[in-house]
Amino acid sequence: MDEVARVASNAFTLSNDLRRDTELLILFSLDPARGREISLSGARLKFLNPDERSTAALLKNALARATPSDRPTEVSPGLSVGPVDPLARLAEFARRPDAVWLTESGGPIEGWPSPEGGFAAVLSDPSDPTPAEVAVLEAAGLPRVRVGPRSLRSSQVVDLVHHEFDRREEPSRPPPGGPA
Ligand SMILES: C[S@@+](CC[C@H](N)C(=O)[O-])C[C@H]1O[C@@H](n2cnc3c(N)ncnc32)[C@H](O)[C@@H]1O
Repeated sequence: MDEVARVASNAFTLSNDLRRDTELLILFSLDPARGREISLSGARLKFLNPDERSTAALLKNALARATPSDRPTEVSPGLSVGPVDPLARLAEFARRPDAVWLTESGGPIEGWPSPEGGFAAVLSDPSDPTPAEVAVLEAAGLPRVRVGPRSLRSSQVVDLVHHEFDRREEPSRPPPGGPA
């Protein structure tokens, strides 16, 4: 959960702001029969502070509150939780036209043309994807993309993906405080 909380924190937090154009879907699949998904939407998100301890608490509380429910429930603004079949959900996500698989064995992110103008990335936690997950990703034919030559923590990968897309947007986004 520590690394998942770091991923959530890095996915959304800026200096004194949140990335409102970002969405994060977290699949909890340790017990596939009782899979859970937490989805976070930057457009509506509140109560996500930069410290990972409070983010971990936010996610754990969401999971605890979801247990009796059989439908996705918004447990705090921009944060929903519900039951899921993790492999089926992964397959659904992988069908997105802008989806890629972030993996050390991919091609350089700089060469990914992002034809849809955005980026829907599959990222694993500190363990590599299971054989069943790999089979789903391979069946979907996802392009494999890497952010650098070293095996990084998932949260570091998130930072580098944001950095790449921030740079691509740079010409249309004035620097904070106005033009230099
Ligand atoms: C800590 S790594 C997984 C375990 C790692 N393969 C190992 O040998 O310990 C977590 C995830 O981050 C992503 N990742 C790590 N380094 C990456 C890189 N250089 N480019 C793209 N994704 C990367 C992959 O999705 C990877 O499964």
